Amino acid sequence: MTDAERKAALDAIGAEVAVCTRCRLHQTRTLAVPGEGAAATEVIFVGEGPGFNEDRQGRPFVGQAGALLTELLASVGWSRQEVFITNVVKCRPPENRDPEPDEIAACAPFLTRQLEALDPALVVTLGRFSMARFSPGSRIGQVHGTFRPADAACGAPRAMTFAMYHPAAALHQGSLKETLFRDMAGVPAALLEARATRTEDSARTEPGNPRGTVDEGPSEPSGALADPGESDPTAQLPLF
Ligand code: URA
Repeated sequence: MTDAERKAALDAIGAEVAVCTRCRLHQTRTLAVPGEGAAATEVIFVGEGPGFNEDRQGRPFVGQAGALLTELLASVGWSRQEVFITNVVKCRPPENRDPEPDEIAACAPFLTRQLEALDPALVVTLGRFSMARFSPGSRIGQVHGTFRPADAACGAPRAMTFAMYHPAAALHQGSLKETLFRDMAGVPAALLEARATRTEDSARTEPGNPRGTVDEGPSEPSGALADPGESDPTAQLPLF
């Protein structure tokens, strides 16, 4: 998929989300919040669901938790514009209650299609509802700050998933803020590993490489999404 095709796919999903009536959350929302960011990115951040400010503005993570997410990104030299940010459910649950299983299920196809369009190397989950989708059965207290292959059914079968606490949790429990920054510091290394895994997988399945041998060098892939078939240097996130 070209970057223009990715963007067109994301815009089409956003337009459907804006008028979606698949679950009860549409009855109480002001605006649906499809997500935003770069179409040509390697990394997607997935939160739980819109809160008060997001519901008013139709944009993800624009309240206090969003300000912390922006700080977390900046701590590794990234900006909101360089990644894609979305949620498990696209409409605000009333009073910011937890999303119900049937609401998550109704909204799931949108996130699956966003992942298929973005084909990210790394999915950073913010909070347990997001983690449950990409790493079912994990416990956030045990896996935060670590990464593993994303669940094959999630829509991004070639991605790694990195678990983080939800930034809003740190607003209620100050000690988690330090944990969040410490965990975030591990995200670029996870991306590096995710890129390398994709390069190996591509080499194994590439036509003309029937034995699936992996070319060992250069050690750091130069393509945008670490996919030798696609290269867009503008999309490569800085790692330091
Ligand atoms: N919390 C979330 O999970 N998502 C948002 O977009 C904002 C707050």
